[in-house]
Amino acid sequence: MHNVKSVGVIGAGQMGGGIAQVAAVAGFETVVFDAFEGALGKCKSLHDKLLARAVEKGKMAQPDADAAKKRLAYAASLDALSRCDVVIEAVVEDGRVKKELFRKVAAMTGPQTLLASNTSSISITDLGTSVGDRADRFIGMHFFNPVPVMQLVEVINGLATSPVTTERTIALAKAMGKTPIPANDRPGFVSNRVLMPLINEAFYAWMEGVARPEDIDQIMKLGCNFPMGPLRLADFIGLDTCVHIMDVLAEGLNSPRYRACPLLKQLVTAGRLGDKTGRGVFEYPAK
Ligand code: CAA
Ligand code: NAD
Repeated sequence: MHNVKSVGVIGAGQMGGGIAQVAAVAGFETVVFDAFEGALGKCKSLHDKLLARAVEKGKMAQPDADAAKKRLAYAASLDALSRCDVVIEAVVEDGRVKKELFRKVAAMTGPQTLLASNTSSISITDLGTSVGDRADRFIGMHFFNPVPVMQLVEVINGLATSPVTTERTIALAKAMGKTPIPANDRPGFVSNRVLMPLINEAFYAWMEGVARPEDIDQIMKLGCNFPMGPLRLADFIGLDTCVHIMDVLAEGLNSPRYRACPLLKQLVTAGRLGDKTGRGVFEYPAK
């Protein structure tokens, strides 16, 4: 039993927004907090659009979409999460920022509250040190993008995570309609240990002129049945997030083979972060 009625989400970006939507649709009272102006409004508009589309396509009844919207609240203050039974963090892939937030969350929530990070790669044991004697309630709950569509939640225990916390998290992921699969607390866990070097290699192939970016993607789509080519997927994930993940792999696995490709880093320096800024490897004029 997860014993969760209310879900708090920190970060209203593509992952936090998706997690909040899925939680509300699954019947949980949901509050999403973001510190940056504009993020909450954008998140709410996307929820309205995606729920309306689900109704149009006959995948959801109008009253269910209305009820999900009613369960969603958007907060400009972290305090709004103080009564939540679980807090799921989905802010930038930066351990310092995440720890600072968890320090505050641990101080203001009840002792039973589950504390979960959606980190793509950072050590759960390390992040868990920020919550003091609540580390037994701290866990990795790694959702995939786009959250409403992707089935997987990678569940990562830190050294101090208690078996009860793992059980509650697995039950919660199932209640959210997802398939939880465990992975150990190693850099990038399983998903990004395997996926991100592949994406990074596609940038090297582009940088070295092995093929044009659109051809690299078509080769992987038509030849390996990828739904998106690796460069398109990098834009979709966010090139900044890709660099952060490679940095964690390079440091944690202590090998130069995980260094972020210079071209990938250069695009981030130029502000070309992918879909979220309208341009990354490719251009997205509508965004
Ligand atoms: N949010 C919500 N729903 C979305 C969406 C979004 N951003 N994008 C697409 N969808 C939905 C569509 O509404 C559509 O739903 P219905 O079937 O109910 O109509 C469905 O997804 C399929 O969409 P489309 O027909 O428009 O497009 P598609 O068939 O090309 O699928 C895709 C889009 C699901 C994104 C597909 O291209 C895909 O699976 N891409 C790979 C995604 C992937 O690998 N994700 C993992 C990234 S790595 C990660 O998340 C971990 C990390 O730490 C970095
Ligand atoms: P994003 O840039 O779309 O969103 C991050 C959000 O966090 C932004 O709205 C930002 O305003 C907010 N934020 C930043 N600092 C904050 C703070 N101190 N307090 C409150 N809000 C703050 O990023 P994203 O793609 O949603 O990624 C979020 C997390 O999820 C990262 O840890 C990332 O590694 C992980 N993740 C990403 C993907 C993906 O495909 N993008 C997949 C799985 C996991």
